Parts: sequence; structure tokens; C-alpha cells
Amino acid sequence: MIDIHCHLLPGLDDGPRTMDEAMAMARMAVADGIREVVCTPHWHPMLCPNEGAEIAVAVAVLRERLQVGSIPLQVWGGSELSLDMDLEPGLKEGRLATLNDGPWVLLELPVLFLPRDTERTLTSLLAQGLRVILAHPERYAYVRSDPSRLQGWVEMGLFVQITAASLLGSLGPELVSLCRVLLEHHLVHFVATDAHGASSRRPLLSAARDAAAGIVGPQTAARLVEDNPRAVLAGAPLCLESWAPVPLPHKKRPWFVFW
Ligand SMILES: [Fe+2]
Repeated sequence: MIDIHCHLLPGLDDGPRTMDEAMAMARMAVADGIREVVCTPHWHPMLCPNEGAEIAVAVAVLRERLQVGSIPLQVWGGSELSLDMDLEPGLKEGRLATLNDGPWVLLELPVLFLPRDTERTLTSLLAQGLRVILAHPERYAYVRSDPSRLQGWVEMGLFVQITAASLLGSLGPELVSLCRVLLEHHLVHFVATDAHGASSRRPLLSAARDAAAGIVGPQTAARLVEDNPRAVLAGAPLCLESWAPVPLPHKKRPWFVFW
């Protein structure tokens, strides 16, 4: 399996604090069947100003340590980018990390409120030729209250990554049901760990792949953790055969909204 969303680089964000913890995470990932990881530290201009050059150095250091420790895990550079005014200029100028330096970007939207100009930003990123993956939208309040919003974005050309823990119930039963609905409606393209440590939010993917297989079948589940991530690493488009979104009903607004 290939994990496209993992906070594995030590000391850059709220992921592992030390190289030892990163090594423990790497061993855990390998034991779970993960062979490649895209390291995606947070980027936010104020809170986590991790730009591409710094991430590339950290990946090179980690790669060397994995080799010394004989841990058979390949690691690649990337970033989990926040929606911010500096996002578009940062990507245009090549300051911010894309996934394995290709056209794919991992974008995190605010959890509680959708900023007014989000759709303009998304359209603009797509117009730049970038392929945008939304990081764990099942956690966003405005997707939870109206999952059909996600369908519109997928039809626009965005891709969706759900987090293994959401599908497995660690974040509550509501997210399990939502992940199931999103999978059944072909609105998921990747399952990833979004791992942050060796003791909690761990880099484990096999149980989520098996849970996905129970919903969409083993072949499709393999696409979500192997084939699609491999296309990302290659900078290639996804094969979306038999995976067009299945219409979701728009959530009816409560009557008082009209008053
Ligand atoms: Fe993350």
C-alpha cells in the first residue's frame, strides 16, 4: 500500500517529535503492509511555515535513516496545505510542496466554516493544471451536514481522501456512516492514514482497506490505497473507470431557513 497523507517527518509540525518516533512509525507502517509514504507536514504561513525546500531536506535525512535502519519504506515529499491567501502564490512560485513534486496537491479546508472565496480558489488551482485532493472532508462540518456539497466538488474535478480512522470508527459512528455513504456514491479516491505518531493517530491502513473492501469490494479498495496513490507518485491522472459519482440527494434545508 502507499500512504499519501502521513505526518512522518520529525519536528516539523504536530507529527512525531523525534527521529526515534518517526522510525517507530515507519516500522509500524511496514508491518501493516505500507511500502511507500508521502510525507505531508502541515503548511500554514503562520503556524507551520514548512516550504518545499525544507521538506525536501527533511525527507532526504529520513530516507538515509531508514536505509541505515534497514527499514524497507520508501518516502517521498509532499505537504498538507492550508487554505490561505499565500496558497496560490506559493504554488505558482514553486515555494510550496506538491505531492512528490508533481501536479497533485493535498489541500486541507477549515473544519468548521467554509470561507466565502473557497470555490474561486479551487477553480483557480484547477485552472493552473493542479490536481487537488481534499484531505479528510468527512471531518468538515459543512460536508457532514450536506455531503452532496462534496459531489459538486468532485464533479468540478477535485479528488477526495478519507482517513482510515474515520472509516474504522475511532472518530465516532457518524463518520463511519458518512464514509460508507461517500464510498457507495463513488466520492472517495484515496484512503490514507493521516498518521501523526507511534502511540496515537498511527500509520495503519490495512484494516481500513479491508473495511472499504467490505463496502465497495476488494478491487476498488485496492485502487484507493495502491493504484490511485501510485498514479499520484507518477504525476499521472487517475483511472476513473466505473467510478463516476453516483448522485446524492441534496439535503433539504429546514423550513426556518426560508424565513
Ligand atoms: Fe494531516
